[in-house]
Amino acid sequence: SERTLVLIKPDGVRRGLVGDVIGRIERKGLKIVAMELRTLDADTAKAHYAEHSERPFFGELVEFITSAPLVAMVVEGPRAVEAFRALAGLTDPVKSAPGTIRGDHALEIGENVVHGSDSTESSAREIKIFFPDRF
Ligand code: GTP
Ligand code: MG
Repeated sequence: SERTLVLIKPDGVRRGLVGDVIGRIERKGLKIVAMELRTLDADTAKAHYAEHSERPFFGELVEFITSAPLVAMVVEGPRAVEAFRALAGLTDPVKSAPGTIRGDHALEIGENVVHGSDSTESSAREIKIFFPDRF
């Protein structure tokens, strides 16, 4: 069994999609083992998105992710990283199939409702940022 870090980003919380996302995670058979509503500070956001620090949209990304509360959770299950990425859909919501979270709920790449770790190395790093000492 594996763990992944899932975020319901500020757009998802603002639009009332927390229940929908949690429902999909639970129906899939994945287990939520930690969860918290919080507003990120800029340092935490920059650490989380460090791999994108040289990208032109980095400033916008940090601004957005710190703009309002998000829901952070640790989700566990067999191949949880890949399983949640499949539920989320592609980064670009327009290219995301209907039936996925982004395919059903989003249009803009900068406001794509959820984050899911992209590898077990990333999930270990990200879980440490969001839930230090818990795992
Ligand atoms: P995350 O789960 O949020 O990490 O998304 P991802 O893994 O599908 O995409 P990636 O890690 O490549 O990019 C991180 C986030 O940066 C994306 O979810 C987008 O919200 C944002 N992003 C990526 N590309 C662009 C872009 O070209 N413009 C803007 N404004 N945002 C972008
Ligand atoms: Mg990513």
